[in-house]
Amino acid sequence: CGIIGYTGKQEALPLLIAGLKRLEYRGYDSAGVAVIGEGRVAVCKKEGKIAVLEGALNGNFPPGRTGIGHTRWATHGAPTDANAHPHLDCTGRLAVVHNGIIENYLALREQLVAQGHRFVSETDTEVIPHLLEEFYEGDLLSAVKRVIPLLRGSFALAAVAVDEPTRVVAARFDSPLIVGLGEDENFVASDIPAILAATRRTYVLDDGEIADVRPEGVTVYDRNGSSRTKEVFVVNWDAAQAEKAPYPHFMLKEIHEQPQVIRETLRGRIEGTEIAFPGLKLDPGFLKSLRRLYITACGTAYHAGLIGKMLIERLVRIPVEADIASEFRYRDPLLGPGDLLVVVSQSGETADTLAALREAKAKGATVLAITNVVGSSVAREAHEVLYTWAGPEIAVASTKAYVAQVVLFTLLAVYLARLRESAPPELLRELAAGLPGLSETVQAVLAREEEIAALAGARKGWEHTFFIGRGLDWAVACEGALKLKEISYIHAEAYAAGELKHGTLALVTEGVPVIALATQPALWEKMQSNIREVKARGADVLAVTGAKAAEIVAVADEAICLPPVHPLLAPVVAVVPLQLFAYYAAVARGCDVDRPRNLAKSVTVE
Ligand code: G6P
Repeated sequence: CGIIGYTGKQEALPLLIAGLKRLEYRGYDSAGVAVIGEGRVAVCKKEGKIAVLEGALNGNFPPGRTGIGHTRWATHGAPTDANAHPHLDCTGRLAVVHNGIIENYLALREQLVAQGHRFVSETDTEVIPHLLEEFYEGDLLSAVKRVIPLLRGSFALAAVAVDEPTRVVAARFDSPLIVGLGEDENFVASDIPAILAATRRTYVLDDGEIADVRPEGVTVYDRNGSSRTKEVFVVNWDAAQAEKAPYPHFMLKEIHEQPQVIRETLRGRIEGTEIAFPGLKLDPGFLKSLRRLYITACGTAYHAGLIGKMLIERLVRIPVEADIASEFRYRDPLLGPGDLLVVVSQSGETADTLAALREAKAKGATVLAITNVVGSSVAREAHEVLYTWAGPEIAVASTKAYVAQVVLFTLLAVYLARLRESAPPELLRELAAGLPGLSETVQAVLAREEEIAALAGARKGWEHTFFIGRGLDWAVACEGALKLKEISYIHAEAYAAGELKHGTLALVTEGVPVIALATQPALWEKMQSNIREVKARGADVLAVTGAKAAEIVAVADEAICLPPVHPLLAPVVAVVPLQLFAYYAAVARGCDVDRPRNLAKSVTVE
């Protein structure tokens, strides 16, 4: 979910709506706003996207210079008008928006109902305005301070009161919240793009902090109620970076940003063939003594972790376990002091990943985060952080963050292998020398967009497909399949090519589409056999393969041949045609590419 709050010299509504549009990637099954004006709280909330809310507002909303807004991704209660935020108390004089989960809401609700409160939604959120009503005596800040200790769970909230028409009170307990500072106006929001059109001066609230936001200034209090001085930082990325123009979708824009993202991720970390991570304080002695390594993440970030596992095992010669975060934390993982866990998260806010991080810390392991968001929970809680400098990623389907994560893993693998002298120096030099060129190689693939769009367009009628590959190609196949299913809704499964014959081959019949990844020359012969295997059952094979892979091209029905690239660097390049393929297949099928059904960009619930 996404939250925005404003108080200041301007009409609140247009600012709230503009902010919500920037937050829509955080959830978009319903949206709502509340504005204080003319001695009342005016509320409008609607199931559906923000455009539906705008239609409902239709110009008839009372004026007011303080308000809150919300875009929702349902957790408790279906996406309906009633369940949309803001939620009100019984008197209709207090309004609240909330992100996260109140775990003990049922008990609180029962107690409030017994005290005579009437509930109109099925949400956990609604207990908050009713609790505020119990404690409100003309000072919203002190009411919020009294309610928070009663709430269990992870959440961020913002509240307004009719009797205090120039105040928003916001609190952060685990779910992200930032403050935006303007001239005679101030904001709170779940994320920076929401406020960027209005101001670049911002800070991130820490866990347990409460912000008292007024037009003339913001005061922040910590858990103990003491006021805190926050260090303001000026956002250095452009507001335009958070907008999709001139591309029709954020996803396509982000795919096209990848050459630049590769340069940014390498910047300052590679000089000639020397690799360094300035600012990384992990003791070389510790890194040299590591006997194994763990990687955990969710979704696309997990697929980058699979590549990381293969590269590190190959070059550093230590066992690496890559795990899905939601599995990792519940299997009582065997790690402890002396072990290193690498967590990967674009947003840095994914609840499962954060929980895995905490579990590892509690067991005494060291945690290194790979994340894209400065100040995110993962970044702050990990012992050390490596940032993927990919800039804000807005499309729900991750592309540029994945590429940056894979580049970082490659850097890390080469760095560790040098430190431990675990791989031939010429190979490490070759890899380091090849990294900066990836930017141009990816650009060369992007230049073939039309060809890939045509291939995808011709296949828009697919309902099922299999992605196959071996080794690194299998990991890329996992990501290619995920991209296709999440945005085009074509059922896609990735299989290790050699495993097909142990079951899945039963599903390969006349005309079944197969996308075969074959970028590893050492495995071309094996892949050729696998392609023959599916061809013999009538499959229609599209291969994504190397520049000189005559043996693959000969057996596939069609092939996308990548520019020459070192096999260990190939994942960064091979994923790009798959991203474009998924994008154009989704467009041809009329899907809402940036906002696929049932999914959210940042999943801050377990
Ligand atoms: C969600 C998104 C995915 C993303 C995953 C992990 O499911 O829809 O695109 O890969 O979360 O997100 P993170 O921010 O932790 O990388």
